Amino acid sequence: MTGGSSGIGLAIARALAEDGYAVTASARRVDKLEAAVEALVGAGLEVEAAPANVTSEDEVKALVAGHRERHGRLDVLVNNAGIGIGGAIEEIETKRLDLQIDVNLRSYVIAMREALPMLRKAGAEHGKALVVNTASIAGKGGQGWLAVYSATKAGVIGLSQAAQMEVAQAGIQVTALCPAFVDTPMTEWVQGQVEPEKMIQPRDLAEAVRLLLRTSRHCLIPEIAFTRPGDPSPFGT
Ligand SMILES: NC(=O)c1ccc[n+]([C@@H]2O[C@H](COP(=O)([O-])OP(=O)(O)OC[C@H]3O[C@@H](n4cnc5c(N)ncnc54)[C@H](OP(=O)(O)O)[C@@H]3O)[C@@H](O)[C@H]2O)c1
Repeated sequence: MTGGSSGIGLAIARALAEDGYAVTASARRVDKLEAAVEALVGAGLEVEAAPANVTSEDEVKALVAGHRERHGRLDVLVNNAGIGIGGAIEEIETKRLDLQIDVNLRSYVIAMREALPMLRKAGAEHGKALVVNTASIAGKGGQGWLAVYSATKAGVIGLSQAAQMEVAQAGIQVTALCPAFVDTPMTEWVQGQVEPEKMIQPRDLAEAVRLLLRTSRHCLIPEIAFTRPGDPSPFGT
């Protein structure tokens, strides 16, 4: 899984490991990733730290290959690495535009491409291989001053829908997670407006991944929106 050192990804890594999966957790900053993984290993969980900057195609390929060499199989791919840079469209720097596209969208495509052979084997074996792509509520409806972020997250939802059509007969399910504000380092900037304890919690998304793994193979959940009570409905109802 990518983005496994912090916030949502760390909570999902913990839940998967608690449920008996051998987890390869990846992130860019080595120290932070190793500290996070050490805590999980210290709790008796089987988690490997595999640093990778997902803007590099070679590093994503090596990440998937490393997991294949260690475990020989992959039942669940979690694409979760993400970065959001706010600002008005007139002021968007091309470097930051490219970075958000590369981390939030391009890396998801590359990781899926590289992981699909293993996922197809798992799907053929038990009919319930899973790809979880972390999108955002900003992908359901574009948010001002987060135009590029919103566009990448809408892209993740479209990618997930398209991929599902391609793998529907292969026992693989693809789900996009679409949360509003979650209490993670990414939302520290918003804490003056929304108290962290009143945000969605990382473990809420981890529980959603558990749900996705427990439903039957004929039950597909293409996306899950997570909102706070009183938020407008992302489904326009
Ligand atoms: N928090 C929210 O309110 C919220 C809402 C909707 C969607 N999301 C999405 O949820 C996902 C997880 O975010 P979070 O809230 O848990 O934030 P977070 O705590 O900041 O975690 C982000 C993760 O992505 C990794 N990452 C970022 N750039 C990377 C790169 N170039 N290469 C490899 N890894 C990279 C980070 O590792 P490093 O620290 O090592 O870079 C970290 O593990 C993101 O896709 C985000 O867009 C979050």
